[in-house]
Amino acid sequence: MILDHLFDRNVAWAQGKTRDDPTYFVRMAEQQSPDYLWIGCADSRVTANDVLGLDPGSVFVQRNIANMVHTSDMNLLAVLEFALEALKVQHIIVCGHYGCGGVRRALGNDRTALVDHWLQPLVMFHRKHQAVFAALKDDQARLDRLCELNVQMQLRRVAATPIVEAAWARGQPLHVHGWIYGVEDGLIREVEPPIASQAARDGLPSIDQCAVTPSEPWSAVRHQAFAAFAADDAQADPCCEGARR
Ligand code: CO
Repeated sequence: MILDHLFDRNVAWAQGKTRDDPTYFVRMAEQQSPDYLWIGCADSRVTANDVLGLDPGSVFVQRNIANMVHTSDMNLLAVLEFALEALKVQHIIVCGHYGCGGVRRALGNDRTALVDHWLQPLVMFHRKHQAVFAALKDDQARLDRLCELNVQMQLRRVAATPIVEAAWARGQPLHVHGWIYGVEDGLIREVEPPIASQAARDGLPSIDQCAVTPSEPWSAVRHQAFAAFAADDAQADPCCEGARR
């Protein structure tokens, strides 16, 4: 058989899973009840379950080039509707990643492929704020910034869909998160705080405002390091604790 090695790996994987956890596939065969909808990039290095350390039954996944949210994308809309109305997920996670090839393409000038139609909102956004990007120190900084801003843009777009608005309107608990993943260190960073209502969404700065006032994504590791630093510092000089926060 062509791709025999993959079938062999599959058998080894299934046997290994069963050996480590005899009820694994019994649990997987039951109805899925994920708490999270992941909207991520199709990039082969950014697999939702792996980076979150979750079993396959825990996260419902939609991936495409550069984790875009097009409000005419039937695939994404059907996934979104099913996730919110049938699975009742409580968290939508829009997760981009640094070094995204789709975002890099949007920064360039080649406009000859279908993917350029797909990336068009990002291309136009970059063009509109060209002066902001030109002022950054180098191409790496421009790519990093556009990867972050792309998350913020797609977060706003998914939070503006009637499907999400309807979930909030019927009182369903739902947070929409904007994260970015570092392929070089495996860490997820929060790009901006999650939003949990239509009013919170309406109160967000516009994506154009974000372009000129960038956020600073923080990983949990950095949060932990900062908390430890603040605790040490507070011990030495308790009066400064409040100011540090
Ligand atoms: Co990507």
